Amino acid sequence: MNIHFTEKASSKGVLVVGIYEDKILTESAQGLDQKSEGLLTRALKNGSFSGKKKEILSLVAPHGLENSTLLLMGLGKKGTLTAQDCEVIGGNLTSHLMTLSQSEACVLLSEIEGRALSLPEIAAHLAGGCLLRSFYFDKYRTQKQDEKKSILKEISFALPSQADAHKATEFFKPLESVSEGVFYTRAFVSEPPNVLYPETFAEELKSLTKLGVKVEILGIEEMHKLGMGALLGVAQGSVKEPKLVLLEWHGKDQTTKPLAFVGKGVTFDTGGISLKTPDGMPDMKYDMTGAATVAGLLKTLALRKARVNVVGVMGLVENMPDGNAQRPSDVVKTMSGQTIEVLNTDAEGRLVLADALWYTQDRFKPELMVDLATLTGAIVISLGNEYAGLFSNNDKLAEELYQAGLDVNEKLWRFPLHENYDKDINSAIADMNNTGSSRKAGSITASQLLARFVNNVPWAHLDIAGVAWSTKDDDLYEKGATGYGVRLLNKFISTYYEK
Ligand code: BES
Ligand code: MN
Ligand code: ZN
Repeated sequence: MNIHFTEKASSKGVLVVGIYEDKILTESAQGLDQKSEGLLTRALKNGSFSGKKKEILSLVAPHGLENSTLLLMGLGKKGTLTAQDCEVIGGNLTSHLMTLSQSEACVLLSEIEGRALSLPEIAAHLAGGCLLRSFYFDKYRTQKQDEKKSILKEISFALPSQADAHKATEFFKPLESVSEGVFYTRAFVSEPPNVLYPETFAEELKSLTKLGVKVEILGIEEMHKLGMGALLGVAQGSVKEPKLVLLEWHGKDQTTKPLAFVGKGVTFDTGGISLKTPDGMPDMKYDMTGAATVAGLLKTLALRKARVNVVGVMGLVENMPDGNAQRPSDVVKTMSGQTIEVLNTDAEGRLVLADALWYTQDRFKPELMVDLATLTGAIVISLGNEYAGLFSNNDKLAEELYQAGLDVNEKLWRFPLHENYDKDINSAIADMNNTGSSRKAGSITASQLLARFVNNVPWAHLDIAGVAWSTKDDDLYEKGATGYGVRLLNKFISTYYEK
């Protein structure tokens, strides 16, 4: 979908105008009301629309206007608009526009009073929300049931002056970059696992080279040489070759230590020999969301030429139960030298990350590491689909991530790590096991295993099992892959590491 900012309102398609709560007309709404001989006043008098945030009233064939449709868009209480509000309002507008079978819409903006926001900023954030909500995945439909959505091609924002339109365009640029990163993530996550598996995923990532990202792919031979027995143990039940993908973005001088982001990329998780039950198994195509989020982040950073050095590491494997699959009770040796007794082959994410995290700190000597993983069902029991779990060995890092999450409304909730939880993963015959002694505190014991592979580097683990995928539409995404984490980590970087 195309978005632009102009000073001239379009008389074609849908015209959108803001109304404050309690039916108070914005300046542009007043203008339209006059032009249409009181249409807005009459419409507001006769309906339940009051101008609350996200409310929309649709008036077809509006009197006195050439546009096909006039939409009144609720802005909430006058003077209270925040950037997040604008995004939500914009997203909601797009989801409504996508039902109208109209190809273009124009949002009329004149003095909308925000809180600390200028008019061009309001326009940019509205547009950002519009764009984020416009993503849908219909690649595999041959009968385009989604046709209506695809009719919408363009949303323009009409501002009072050319200077304002220019400013809005500038404010919008980084938001557009982050949306493209989010779409990149969502598209990967949406792909079926017969199409997207380690090799095809890695191959696709090579296209980031065009944006200046360095892409390196390690295959099974190299990982053998490095001694990544835990990651390889997971992969050995699959005919698909595992890959470790390394993405590097250099936006600063080479001497600055990079920030590292590590993603779990299990392209399908059957559970292995500890096979899952059929009910939830199709969901396990999104068990590579951590890796896809890292890819979306790197794309964002490259698009907006972020002044930071970042490495993305993606452990890509498929967890299958064939004749060569690992057995519950196998002992594997990790790259770090530590051994793990694999009591449950379905606790595979931590095995992949154990080697990926160790490799990351060993090779890149990063300033900090953040991993993302759809790691445990237990986090979904704890937090549902609202917050992701945050685990960290470093209070400053945890606080920065927490704040960034609040800023973009991708929320995190911190859980404890403690030596007594750590004891729970001790094994009878190896250095540790991969399950803990019971189901108690399952997300924490999983994190304790990861913590043994970070070698004192400031580290945080985000368990995104509950937020990676949504079974219902939301303000900023359609049901399916949410893209959670790209905006959060982009904000984390821009706020704390790009100064
Ligand atoms: N990929 C799953 C976790 C998951 C669950 C992701 C629901 C998304 C939605 C993970 O590999 C897994 O199977 N974890 C097990 C661990 C257990 C065997 C210790 C779990 O959570 O049940
Ligand atoms: Mn599993
Ligand atoms: Zn998994």
